[in-house]
Amino acid sequence: MCRICGGVVNEFLDLGRQPLSDAFVEPDETADEFYYHLRVGVCESCSMVQQLAEVPRERMFHDSYPYVSSGSVRMREHFTRTAHDLLECESTGSDPFIVEIGSNDGTMLAAVRAAGVRHLGVEPCGGVADVARAAGVRVRSAFFEEAVGAEIAAQDGPANVVFAANTICHIPYLDSIFRGIDALLAPDGVFVFEDPYLGDVIEKNSFDQIYDEHFYVFSARSVQAMARRFGFELVDVRRLPVHGGEVRYTLARAGARTPSAAVAALVASEDARGLAELSTLHAFAAEVDRISRDLVGQLEKLRDSGLRVAGYGATAKSATVTNYAGIGPDLVPCVFDTTPAKQGRLMPGSHIPVRPAEEFAEYGADRLLLFAWNHAEEIIAKEKDFARGGGRWLLYVPEVRLL
Ligand code: TMP
Repeated sequence: MCRICGGVVNEFLDLGRQPLSDAFVEPDETADEFYYHLRVGVCESCSMVQQLAEVPRERMFHDSYPYVSSGSVRMREHFTRTAHDLLECESTGSDPFIVEIGSNDGTMLAAVRAAGVRHLGVEPCGGVADVARAAGVRVRSAFFEEAVGAEIAAQDGPANVVFAANTICHIPYLDSIFRGIDALLAPDGVFVFEDPYLGDVIEKNSFDQIYDEHFYVFSARSVQAMARRFGFELVDVRRLPVHGGEVRYTLARAGARTPSAAVAALVASEDARGLAELSTLHAFAAEVDRISRDLVGQLEKLRDSGLRVAGYGATAKSATVTNYAGIGPDLVPCVFDTTPAKQGRLMPGSHIPVRPAEEFAEYGADRLLLFAWNHAEEIIAKEKDFARGGGRWLLYVPEVRLL
């Protein structure tokens, strides 16, 4: 049953037994790993793409959650620009108030704070929340939900903007989120969120965007229907080049604003390409299979020819690829990553060891599987000596190919 509207959900993709994508394990703790069955479907009524099973939120989001928003230079720039966009366009009145749901290490709110604007982050993961606090960002440690929205409104007054990046798609119980936002948002306020876009996932075959934390894959059509259901309206959309293709959705209270032409245009383009139709989604599932087999074939060839292979970027996304395709240390002996909380541990399920990025040069790789393909430009530029020395990058989005 659809988590948004109660409609019938038709399964189109079975990604098999999967671990928690951000649960990097200590080498002696692999016996305790949690697994679940990752299946994806689409709602016949509201066209929301969603998982069929839910992982309890406390298993995914806890004090040791390793992901930091600031892990890429480009993402830091993106969030600073986002803060300025929100400050310029949406922070009305003499004393504006901006709330961020899932504020992580405070990358976006630090820029709001620097502008001297009232703000609050709501973040359930203690480790990253403390990083934000150390930077002077005001953070409440909690999962945002209905009661939390009402409490913030009582304490701080209404918010002009509620923002969330790569967070709303993580939350199955969006009914409670919308009620919390209803309690918190000023009459003319906006709820702005950005998440991976179904249009990009289908176009790029980026099935690794689907993992435990990404419970929903949004489209303009499904977000429009969801907004209506909860008394809001989708009033603007903007495609973003970050994280492999996202959309920033702007919602206002129903009737409060006139939707921009971009909303109708994006919905029409989705309908024209049959984005949420089962035939499209089944064709996508067939591509997932083909690409996984191609990738394993390519990695086996590299191994058999004696070339030195490694992975680059121990992304959450890579859990889906490695566990679905069956890629382990025999094919990718290690992966390099800049995140201290991941280093020295094993990638979930696949048990590929994560090594500090600084050790990359001495490893002397011939081929690098770019798990962090969404940061390709930044990473390939940073590691230009690798290609200069004859090394080649192996990508699997949108196709398996060597660069
Ligand atoms: P993401 O795709 O979810 O943002 O995760 C990117 C991962 O890749 C994260 O663990 C940080 C890592 N990373 C590097 O190791 N080097 C880099 O240059 C960049 C941009 C990311």
